[in-house]
Amino acid sequence: MTTNNIIWHHATVTRQCRETLHRHKGAVLWFTGLSGSGKSTLAHAVEEQLYQLGCSTFVFDGDNVRHGLCNDLGFSEEDRKENIRRIGEMTNLFLQAGTIALTAFISPFRKDRERVRKLVGEKNFVEIYCRCPIHVCEKRDVKGLYRRARAGEIKDFTGISSPYEEPETPELTVESGEKTIEACVEKIVEMLVQRGVLTVETSEVVSAL
Ligand code: ADX
Repeated sequence: MTTNNIIWHHATVTRQCRETLHRHKGAVLWFTGLSGSGKSTLAHAVEEQLYQLGCSTFVFDGDNVRHGLCNDLGFSEEDRKENIRRIGEMTNLFLQAGTIALTAFISPFRKDRERVRKLVGEKNFVEIYCRCPIHVCEKRDVKGLYRRARAGEIKDFTGISSPYEEPETPELTVESGEKTIEACVEKIVEMLVQRGVLTVETSEVVSAL
């Protein structure tokens, strides 16, 4: 631990001030699911919709983050744990900024996701399970990685040689293997209205869509 002699500085412009400015609440929308299950596509599609509504948002995408912030990490259980820990800390900062942070990481281990839930707070954490059978992900194989994993060229590949632990009680499950992106987006935005992330003003716009 390197927190000795470091003292927390409290901001005068608080999360609440920023939420008032943004006219919505901050939240962490945590998309989880197999590679190719549609996490990134959905997170970006939801972000587009929220942007249209005037919300302050940011998408953290597994592949992108691994080019920079997490480019020292691989795919062992330990490295994945550290990957998710860093993203969790990052989303917590975005939450304080009154922003809706959307994340698209496989995040295959339940305890890693639960750690983030605890860090950012139960009411701020919205776990969205992108349920898509592995045979569908494998058929899509957008990046050609399943084929390479089956050929033994990539080790510890989620769903093939490394486990994926399904969420037990996610806030929402979207059937991203069979439903259209639009249908999944609609379900997610509806839930944000129900949870009060989108306030009356933003909700009115939603119902007019
Ligand atoms: S996580 O497990 O730590 O959450 P993350 O979402 O950051 O994973 O990265 C997953 C992406 O990395 C996949 O979509 C895929 O493109 C790529 N990838 C490369 N190697 C692997 C692997 N062994 N297992 C899973 N994904 C991999």
